[in-house]
Amino acid sequence: MDKSQLVKGVFDSVVNRYDIMNDIMSLGIHRLWKDKMVNSVHFTQNSKVLDIAGGTGDIAIRIVRREPSAQVTVCDINQNMLSRGRDKAINSNQLNFNWVCANAESLPFEDSEFDYCTIAFGIRNVSDRKKALSEAYRVLKPNGQFICLEFAPMHYQNKTLTKFYDLYSFKVIPKIGSIVAKDKSSYEYLVRSIREFPTQADFKMEVEEVGFKNVEFHNMSYGIVALHIGAK
Ligand SMILES: C[S@@+](CC[C@H](N)C(=O)[O-])C[C@H]1O[C@@H](n2cnc3c(N)ncnc32)[C@H](O)[C@@H]1O
Repeated sequence: MDKSQLVKGVFDSVVNRYDIMNDIMSLGIHRLWKDKMVNSVHFTQNSKVLDIAGGTGDIAIRIVRREPSAQVTVCDINQNMLSRGRDKAINSNQLNFNWVCANAESLPFEDSEFDYCTIAFGIRNVSDRKKALSEAYRVLKPNGQFICLEFAPMHYQNKTLTKFYDLYSFKVIPKIGSIVAKDKSSYEYLVRSIREFPTQADFKMEVEEVGFKNVEFHNMSYGIVALHIGAK
């Protein structure tokens, strides 16, 4: 099965339990990572923001809480995730998002349309990362900012920590997935995809290779996740 079909199957299967699973698996810490991502950026007034692989809208909702005048488009390849996000946004009284079902590798937007492109826990799931990064670059205005939050493959020096992290990743997470989301294999995919993702330094190079400048990364939670920020 090709990766895009696999990923579609994963998110179709977990959509109803996606938010609760994030809370359980990360003990709620994904909320802090997302807060930190959005708080790391100074969103200017009336700026146009594209949240790529925006799923159920967690990042978009945080952006407008921080900068109510921002015009946010949420784009995701999975209509079910977007529908869930739209319901969540309505419940949070956010009615002005633009929801677009599209592939990050071929964005249906003009060149230089957005001031900011955000992507949280999405880049790991695309089939062709270079295409997706190039598309984010294309749709950003000159000097626009690219902000990417993603898990990093952990390479602990400390053996006990490595054992604990492996145990949690390969045993506990799939178990929680099978109990809560009734889907063990999707959460096995999640763990595998994190291990296969490039290191922070290698991903920084990939971001630079498509043209972004001043690229920096910041680790969170001892490098479990990393935030990469670059400018067009
Ligand atoms: C782990 S979720 C992250 C959702 C949201 N950004 C968050 O932080 O909660 C990954 C999302 O990426 C989307 N996705 C996967 N491949 C994609 C692609 N090629 N283009 C756009 N979205 C994609 C999935 O449908 C899913 O909604």
